[in-house]
Amino acid sequence: MALDLPYTGNRLLSTWKLLKDPYGAYETWRSNLGDTFVIRALNGDVVVSCAPDFVADFLKLTDDDHVPFATEAGAGVLGPGTMIVARGEAHKRKRRLAGPHFRGERMRAYASMVDEVARARIAGWSGELRLMDETLPISLDVIIRAVFGADDDGEIEQYRAEITTLVERLSPMFFFTRHTQRRLWGLGPWARYRDALEQLAGHLGTRIEARRAAPAEQVAERSDILTALALARDEGGDHMPVAEVAEELIGLLFAGHETTQIALAWAIYWLHKHPETMEKLRAELDAAPPDAAARLKLPYLDAVVHETLRLHPIVPDVLRTLAVDKTLGGIALKAGQGVAVAAAMTHARADLYPEPQRFDPERFVGQKPRPQSYLPFGAGVRRCIGAGLALFEMKLVIAEIVTGVELELLGDEVPVRRNVTTAPKHGVRVRVVGRRG
Ligand code: HEM
Repeated sequence: MALDLPYTGNRLLSTWKLLKDPYGAYETWRSNLGDTFVIRALNGDVVVSCAPDFVADFLKLTDDDHVPFATEAGAGVLGPGTMIVARGEAHKRKRRLAGPHFRGERMRAYASMVDEVARARIAGWSGELRLMDETLPISLDVIIRAVFGADDDGEIEQYRAEITTLVERLSPMFFFTRHTQRRLWGLGPWARYRDALEQLAGHLGTRIEARRAAPAEQVAERSDILTALALARDEGGDHMPVAEVAEELIGLLFAGHETTQIALAWAIYWLHKHPETMEKLRAELDAAPPDAAARLKLPYLDAVVHETLRLHPIVPDVLRTLAVDKTLGGIALKAGQGVAVAAAMTHARADLYPEPQRFDPERFVGQKPRPQSYLPFGAGVRRCIGAGLALFEMKLVIAEIVTGVELELLGDEVPVRRNVTTAPKHGVRVRVVGRRG
């Protein structure tokens, strides 16, 4: 039954607009249709809103109220064991097991590793670069070490090679429909992708078993997520099956590497577009001790990171399917209805963020973002589990780049869609013009 709300036009055209230019599509729909409307997408109708009362109710959705939106194809790509596609009780249990390992104290254990990874990469920069090609190996190495727990050079190299093959063989079409997921006698693109996935899962599986077999005092010192999940036990005292832990780790890889890669590139782009912000950030960093503990407390660096993710929400919207009848923002909706909030719209509201198209870190100086008006990591019980790691990593890597090298920007950027993310079209091209002390 049609809802008493404005609808976007033709289904094919609406999907195309959303895929081609999500920020632009949301801007146009909001100015033509208002704060709340229905997107007619190829995979269903979705009520999307940036009305504050709707967002507030969306944030309160529990695991019993919703299931992830259209994830049948995603479950095939990532494996059914990842929290990204888990529903209800299973999702709750996974968050309970993994959540504590992504919080404050744990993250601080990674500080010197993140610094080391960034410094090693930046030391090799010269001439002209595409920043996205440089921030990718940084974000991958952090995941290989912090999430997969690799610390020996040979193993890190092996993971890099396996992940590169996996990502190269991943087609965005696999996420779109399960019809693309056919093995075709082991010769098709899907079979090649699955072979790479199984190879990486097998490697992780061996490591998970090794952690379980190792003496307790040996693993007690480890702070990586693989070890934490390998040893975690549910309420019944059981370990998770090895294959499920491996799928969870691969889910973390997929959710965490490209998002952080893009966020870092946008931050450096905007700092160079606004030299006064760069000057202010450098002055703050130069005056502080060059260690992670001090840098993580710097208010302007914190504000730069938050403003980057406001202006460029890498994931422009987050979607759910209601599992029960629910009223959101005063609109009565039926079970089965697709619902969404869009950071791309909320972050562009002039009443929340005056001159919303302007990069202005001052908005967040001494000002914590409010959950209802700041959605780069999504919302509620499915909010990004890696948000703490991502913010921490962004601050430390930006600090290393800004204090380590002088770059010149080689062109302007516009956001374009890449799988589920939006990224700078040209990858942020820069020239290295000098080194800083
Ligand atoms: C700047 C970097 C990042 C951004 C912008 C980002 C953004 C997001 C967003 C928008 C969601 C969807 C939340 C929702 O549905 O409400 C999400 C989910 C998720 N993210 Fe991130 N993310 C980032 C980094 C990471 C990292 C580093 C990891 C882990 C290593 C990670 C792991 C996950 C996982 C596992 C989920 C699914 C959570 C669930 O369904 O319960 N993300 N992220």
